[in-house]
Amino acid sequence: MHSRRLFLKNALLAGAAVLTGADRWRHWLPLPEDMNDSSVRWPAVIATWDNRKATAAAGAILSAGGRALDAVEAGARVAEADPNDTSVGYGGLPDRDGNVTLDACIMDEFGNAGSVTYLQHIKHPISVARRVMEKTPHVILSGDGALEFALSEGFSKENLLTDEARRAWEAWKIKSEYKPVINSERHDTIGIIAIDAQRRLSGACSTSGMAFKMRGRVGDSPIIGAGLFVDNEVGAATATGLGELVLKTLGTFLIVEEMRRGKHPQKAVEIAIRRIAQKYPKHARENQVGYIALDRRGRHGAFSLQPGFNYALFQGGQNRVFEAASLWKR
Ligand code: GLY
Repeated sequence: MHSRRLFLKNALLAGAAVLTGADRWRHWLPLPEDMNDSSVRWPAVIATWDNRKATAAAGAILSAGGRALDAVEAGARVAEADPNDTSVGYGGLPDRDGNVTLDACIMDEFGNAGSVTYLQHIKHPISVARRVMEKTPHVILSGDGALEFALSEGFSKENLLTDEARRAWEAWKIKSEYKPVINSERHDTIGIIAIDAQRRLSGACSTSGMAFKMRGRVGDSPIIGAGLFVDNEVGAATATGLGELVLKTLGTFLIVEEMRRGKHPQKAVEIAIRRIAQKYPKHARENQVGYIALDRRGRHGAFSLQPGFNYALFQGGQNRVFEAASLWKR
């Protein structure tokens, strides 16, 4: 019934020569509103891994009627400030030369985007990414340029290498084995997406990247369409895990486009994980990637290559953690 209605609607519009450009596409593509489901599931916020402290901070903003953009920034900042989170911000494991280098990006409900790559010495790369989005004509600032910009915006320079991260690096140096580890410590990049009471969608993604990576390596997290993508007309998605696999398949862009075609977020994330397995079967067997997605109805999806990926969801006043389904069962 649903697809027949859509077909009729599309056929009608295809014949209507009056619609041009962006308007034509806006009407042609099936939107989640076309689904036969009237339940209200917003505001909501979802984050990769057991980042319940982050979803709680974001959820408090949403519950007070705040903007999704502020909520996702606040959530990402919780993980960035946590020294026990060794893959994000302060306390993040360094590259193989001992430098903590951070990647982050943010997108708002208008499709505006800001990003920093290879940023050093700044505890909250997500907030610098937001300033890039709001205060510059650019999308990405990198390395020393990103640092200079952050300092000019009043951020302070800090030592981000904790004693614990330094010890881990020194232990790693004994063998210097350059190999990613699946679900090391069961967490990784924070990706967080939210829909607020006014149905504005936003997302943020922040990481210190792969532990002991090559100097200069940038992952998927600061790349729009790879680590994060938001389209307010459709939904949003974000990624965690081995960035190289996400980059080569533009996973979050793919997920949002699948939702645009009418797929439920769960189906959309499964398609993106299967795409990795289909294109890079060997790497897909040996590594972890996890995706989460949220659509304009507040429906969510989560899926990973390997078992062990979980996510935090704040919705309907509850803040809970769930285990995601995975492609491989091990
Ligand atoms: N997903 C984080 C990274 O690969 O850098």
